[in-house]
Amino acid sequence: ADTKVYRATTTAPVNIAVVKYWGKRDPKLNLPTNSSLSVTLAQSDLRTLTTATCSAAYAGKGDSLLLNGEASDISGARTQACFRALRERRAALEAANPSLPKISSLPLRVVSENNFPTAAGLASSAAGFAALVCAIADLYELPDTPSQLSLIARQGSGSACRSVFGGYVAWRMGEKADGSDSLAEQVAPASAWPEMRAIVLVVSAAKKGVSSSSGMQQTVATSGLFQERIRTVVPDNMAKMEKAIAAQDFAAFAEVTMRDSNSFHATCADTYPPIFYMNDVSRAAVRAVESINAKAGRTVAAYTFDAGPNAVVYYLEKDAGIVLGTFSSILGAGADGWKGAVSPSTAQAAEV
Ligand code: PMV
Repeated sequence: ADTKVYRATTTAPVNIAVVKYWGKRDPKLNLPTNSSLSVTLAQSDLRTLTTATCSAAYAGKGDSLLLNGEASDISGARTQACFRALRERRAALEAANPSLPKISSLPLRVVSENNFPTAAGLASSAAGFAALVCAIADLYELPDTPSQLSLIARQGSGSACRSVFGGYVAWRMGEKADGSDSLAEQVAPASAWPEMRAIVLVVSAAKKGVSSSSGMQQTVATSGLFQERIRTVVPDNMAKMEKAIAAQDFAAFAEVTMRDSNSFHATCADTYPPIFYMNDVSRAAVRAVESINAKAGRTVAAYTFDAGPNAVVYYLEKDAGIVLGTFSSILGAGADGWKGAVSPSTAQAAEV
């Protein structure tokens, strides 16, 4: 028997949304209630490195995933959906081209390493599922475009569909019930606005309290404010954000980023019972950004928060001195630790 080990390795960086995905219209397919837009961070900073292998030598053992050296449960519907979709595509290739090695039915071994705390509200699932899907797609030599792969990554974790691309990335919510038009596309490459920087202030590296899935479910079910967010606030923010990126208008980019983060956390506070992801240190970071901007007399920094207390602050390279200097003096004592400044990735995660 052929005991050859087929192998592919890829990395996918974390992305941080500036217009947030929050709410599912179809929890099974991870179809969102609204479009969203993010900046993919640099490969060299926060990323998942994933190697996928398959071999007849693994026969008798099922598929497996090792995350940061520990066996990870892959029986969940989301992970299974990704494995199934990728296998189906490989099987179709093999059926169309009988000379291809028949590897679609072989057990898969996936090994992933994050270089940052897992599930601390640092979008680890986004980088994780994007890297998993892209590594297996490489292993299977699938001809799919990154947007087509984003459809698969979306089923693992919604925000993962955006980490398939570098730079500025929109996830279009789509309209179809089967999700075939709910995919990511690059709005602009990182090189279109190369001065953009982000710093992650790790307020806490502890696992988050309310998972994004259950937080979303509770928000959709109980917040009245949320209805207004998806009807008017997000469509308006998407349009303004795309304009700001096209014009490299940092003041506009920053205002939409901060307003959209505030709007998302307001809907969380409007659920019943309320959900609080931000804490006192998070709020101190908001005040610090306001004071940096007031002192500069113009907008030089923008905060945003995901489903956890950690702040991400966007700024331009020319203002690095003001932004980083103020942050270390105001917040240095309150935070557990720092992650250095990270710039948006220029490379696409998927090379297919
Ligand atoms: O992809 P999920 O299910 O982990 O949800 C991510 C939700 C936010 O990070 C809060 C917002 C976003 O658009 O990334």
